[in-house]
Amino acid sequence: MTDRTGAHRVTGAAHEAEPLFDDLPPNIDTDVFSVARLYDFLLGGKHNFAPDREFGRRLLAIEPNGRMILQQNRLWLARAMRVLLAAGVRQFLDLGSGIPTQHYVHELAHAVDPGAKVVYVDNDPPAVSHSNYILRDSPNAGAAHADMAESERVLAHPTVTSLIDFGQPVAITALAAWHFVEDKQDPKGVLAEYRRVLAPGSYLALTHATIDGATGDLVRDVQSQYQSVMKNPSPRTREQIADFFEGFDILDPGIVNLPAWRPDKPQDAENAQDVWFYGALGRLAA
Ligand SMILES: C[S@@+](CC[C@H](N)C(=O)[O-])C[C@H]1O[C@@H](n2cnc3c(N)ncnc32)[C@H](O)[C@@H]1O
Repeated sequence: MTDRTGAHRVTGAAHEAEPLFDDLPPNIDTDVFSVARLYDFLLGGKHNFAPDREFGRRLLAIEPNGRMILQQNRLWLARAMRVLLAAGVRQFLDLGSGIPTQHYVHELAHAVDPGAKVVYVDNDPPAVSHSNYILRDSPNAGAAHADMAESERVLAHPTVTSLIDFGQPVAITALAAWHFVEDKQDPKGVLAEYRRVLAPGSYLALTHATIDGATGDLVRDVQSQYQSVMKNPSPRTREQIADFFEGFDILDPGIVNLPAWRPDKPQDAENAQDVWFYGALGRLAA
């Protein structure tokens, strides 16, 4: 339902009370679960609906640290973006972008250089339309609907070709996303296809769920929950994730639990093992 101001309000007994907000695209199905909106819910955002929140609460019952882990994912992005922007990178291709709110790539990049180019890629149509709605006043950013495991399609997408110049360095960022590419889709081979089009000075920034460490069993429980709503997510070991960086030099401190990656203060890295996501940044080898 749309009110006089054009803002969108969801009504009906099946829905919880919905916040009124004015940046929801028209014609999106709020009754269908979306992993992008789940992340928004866990991050405390307002771009989510009853099915997303219901699943989010089930996840939080299994992993009460869920919100904290996703906040750490955003904090990791901010630190990695500082490195990338300081290195002069001004083009970002973000794979599995979800809904880009709460200090995501374009906000961080444009805070430093409004001319920086950012393309978001997601295979979830509501997430893409939501993203393009949020970006409607940003000529240097756009969202593409594509399967990130199909590199040729992504690279040929008009939003990508119109905004990204592969003759110049590009940072490929994939935050909490590459674990949705299953082994049978050859995630390492796909990343190599992206790598082959990158110019020297390009980067790969990944955060990825892991089954390493004491939290391994917990992660498997979370994985089973996900299987009820989407295809098989694949948390991986450090070794498997290292393999994705073939052709890149992994910068210090390597592939580590998110809070342990270049913490702003040493105490920020305390209890890093509770965050069962690794983060790593690689620079394209010369
Ligand atoms: C968990 S969210 C992470 C969103 C964002 N990167 C972040 O860190 O907040 C993962 C996103 O990846 C998307 N995704 C999963 N598989 C994908 C695929 N094969 N191609 C493109 N996007 C995909 C989902 O739709 C979802 O929006």
